[in-house]
Amino acid sequence: MNTAHLVLDRHAVVGPVHRRLFGGFVEHLGRHIYDGIYEPTHPTAGPDGFRRDVIALVRELGVSTIRYPGGNFVSGFRWEDGVGPREQRPRRLDLAWHSTETNEVGLHEFAGWLDAVGSDLMLAVNLGTRGVEEALELLEYTNVPGGTTLSERRRANGRDEPFGVEMWCLGNEMDGPWQLGHRSADAYGQVAAQAARAMRMLDPSIRLVVCGSSGSHMPTFGEWERTVLTHTYDVVDYISCHAYYEERDGDVASFLASGVDMDHFIETVVATADHVGAVRRSRKRIDISFDEWNVWYQSRFESFEQIRGIDNWPVAPRLLEDVYSVTDAVVVGGLLISLLRHADRVTSASLAQLVNVIAPIMTEPGGPAWRQTTFFPFATTSRLARGTSLRVVADAPTRATARYGDVPVIDAAATWDEAAASGAVFLVNRDPEAATTVTVDLGRLGDGVRAGDAVLLHDEDRHARNTLAEPERVRLRPLDVTTSAGVATLTLPPVSWAAVPVAVVG
Ligand code: AHR
Repeated sequence: MNTAHLVLDRHAVVGPVHRRLFGGFVEHLGRHIYDGIYEPTHPTAGPDGFRRDVIALVRELGVSTIRYPGGNFVSGFRWEDGVGPREQRPRRLDLAWHSTETNEVGLHEFAGWLDAVGSDLMLAVNLGTRGVEEALELLEYTNVPGGTTLSERRRANGRDEPFGVEMWCLGNEMDGPWQLGHRSADAYGQVAAQAARAMRMLDPSIRLVVCGSSGSHMPTFGEWERTVLTHTYDVVDYISCHAYYEERDGDVASFLASGVDMDHFIETVVATADHVGAVRRSRKRIDISFDEWNVWYQSRFESFEQIRGIDNWPVAPRLLEDVYSVTDAVVVGGLLISLLRHADRVTSASLAQLVNVIAPIMTEPGGPAWRQTTFFPFATTSRLARGTSLRVVADAPTRATARYGDVPVIDAAATWDEAAASGAVFLVNRDPEAATTVTVDLGRLGDGVRAGDAVLLHDEDRHARNTLAEPERVRLRPLDVTTSAGVATLTLPPVSWAAVPVAVVG
């Protein structure tokens, strides 16, 4: 049995927890839209064709902003295809996922769905096969109240008021050779700067995300960020980070420590952005939009390889339908801890993705929708993490990992909402074999602060999953926490994640 000690101090503030940290991502990919959120023949579908059971789960998940419509998809997408009378919309080849896009769901339908789930729209523009002009046209269509051809077209298409989209991504993963329109950092930086300047001339209130690297493993990582920001520093607000993790070769210790990699990734990009700012003598600060993160078993991603051929462009094929284990969910909980720890600079993030495609929610056509294991840490953290993120002082034993060296077995983040006099501690036990008893000093949060009803994600079988046959195999369980003299004590089994609400009592 390990022991660890944490100290929380409400004055040791990292930064405010922005609601955008709990964003999601919906791409036209596989069964995400069609046979996922949209299935007009499903028994729960409303007149708009969207499944009400899925809407209820997305609401429960608590996603703030949703990035749309891609992903790799956006780099070949013509936004005009998805607006106007449905019967006139074209069927297009989606080269990114070798599928047919029917355009049955486009901007208006998706925005209506967002209203139902209570989330905000974050749009990506196509800087792959298109450029500045089309980005401007889309912005005019969405954000100009009226009186111009494109804004009036929006109104004629049924949306009188502007969509008022605030968050915009300048393309997607332009550093990746797989991306339509992939180009060098220098070439992308130039076009991104032109697009950003032009878009700001049209609507100065928007917030712009320039593409960082598709992952810190990319050969151009670091230099890509430096070059792209050198072109765009004055005209963008965020640089993106993307990261996907998976358990490789049975190395569970390294997998559980994925948060160490995310920490390093964030801190490296922050340092690079600040370096560019320093060279420019700029007082402006660039934040991070971690707008794709999750567990994704890319090494098992074979189904895409089977969809090939000039005569084989399926509609909504089953792609990237990872079924997540308890271990995967513990890692997702750990990644959320990393994001919270950097809340001063990571002020926007999107779990990739939302339904069916590497997703916390799964559906069966004509059948049920259910929560994957990864649903639980996200929903709980989104619900409890309010106010400010606190710097947690932790004293925990370490464990050797093949990828990241010696790693503390306990990792934690904490939040405190001064107005509500309440907060939460999020903890992960990254030890694959040993339980850890953790004491948490709550004294510096204020007099009379005690732990409330805590929840635990753990299973004797770390491979346990929720499936169509057994959709509720894995659930959150209550966790015993005692508070005495301002110190909370709890025991985390190996491979587990927990959330402990704390509040002033009495
Ligand atoms: O989320 C799946 C894909 O991963 C996205 O389309 C792309 O941006 C990334 O490579």
